[in-house]
Amino acid sequence: MTAFPQILARTRRQHDMTQDDLARRLNLSFQAISKWETGQSMPDLDQLVRLANIFGVSADALLGHAPTPARTPYRQKYDQQAYYWGVAPSTMCYEVMRLRPPTAPLCVLDVGCGEGKDAVFFARNGYEVDAFDLTETGLEKGRRLADACGTKVRFFQADALTFRPERTYDIVFSSGVLHYLPSALRPEILASYQAHTARGGVHALNAFVQKPFLPAPPDEESPCALWRSGELAGHYADWRFHRFSEEIFDCDSGGIPHQHCMDVIIAEKP
Ligand SMILES: C[S@@+](CC[C@H](N)C(=O)[O-])C[C@H]1O[C@@H](n2cnc3c(N)ncnc32)[C@H](O)[C@@H]1O
Repeated sequence: MTAFPQILARTRRQHDMTQDDLARRLNLSFQAISKWETGQSMPDLDQLVRLANIFGVSADALLGHAPTPARTPYRQKYDQQAYYWGVAPSTMCYEVMRLRPPTAPLCVLDVGCGEGKDAVFFARNGYEVDAFDLTETGLEKGRRLADACGTKVRFFQADALTFRPERTYDIVFSSGVLHYLPSALRPEILASYQAHTARGGVHALNAFVQKPFLPAPPDEESPCALWRSGELAGHYADWRFHRFSEEIFDCDSGGIPHQHCMDVIIAEKP
């Protein structure tokens, strides 16, 4: 069963369009749109492409197809026995914990959790954690790490391009992932995380950004879509900032020394 009807209805609403508005753009009746959104019929190929163009997303995304894991280089990296990213949590985890200690039950969503080091850290410290990644081999290692630590994380395979939360979280966390989101989808994806965050909840995110004076990184981990400097903060203009920073750091992944620039935001929903 395709996810198309739900994705179409959600995407249309996110674009503030009625069925009638969309029908007019396609020279169709609103009944045709209603049939697509209730699963009674499907658009033909030409209409699907036109829909994708109207919403600025791929036809695959509208159909809810997860791209193959080969789209990221991580499957092979995670195939090794050693933890590619280690098992020590990111420093952002400690910042989140200082800000929102788990003195009450708090739910965390880890977007692009990799091999699970941060998700397991949160779970060990008493948070309830949902964590997803595109790469199944990373999730497997995350499950093993959680078992070894005697804790539980709900790890699941999903693509950030098509996944949208269905419940509310207190903390949305993502490290080293947002540069895999195409720019056209970022506003809608971040808005959906924000809408599914409790009041007083916290987002802790980082993104690789582009600087004209930094050459493109040489290795295959090169971000597919670098953010503009400050772009991430722009999505949180009406949130309370606890941290917004930009840092240039050295890296030699791929064996060639180079530099990255990264924006970090830790912000609270008012
Ligand atoms: C640099 S790693 C970071 C992993 C983890 N957050 C950490 O810090 O250890 C980037 C991760 O993003 C995941 N990823 C890339 N594109 C994704 C997508 N569209 N949806 C979900 N995960 C994705 C990769 O599989 C990989 O595990």
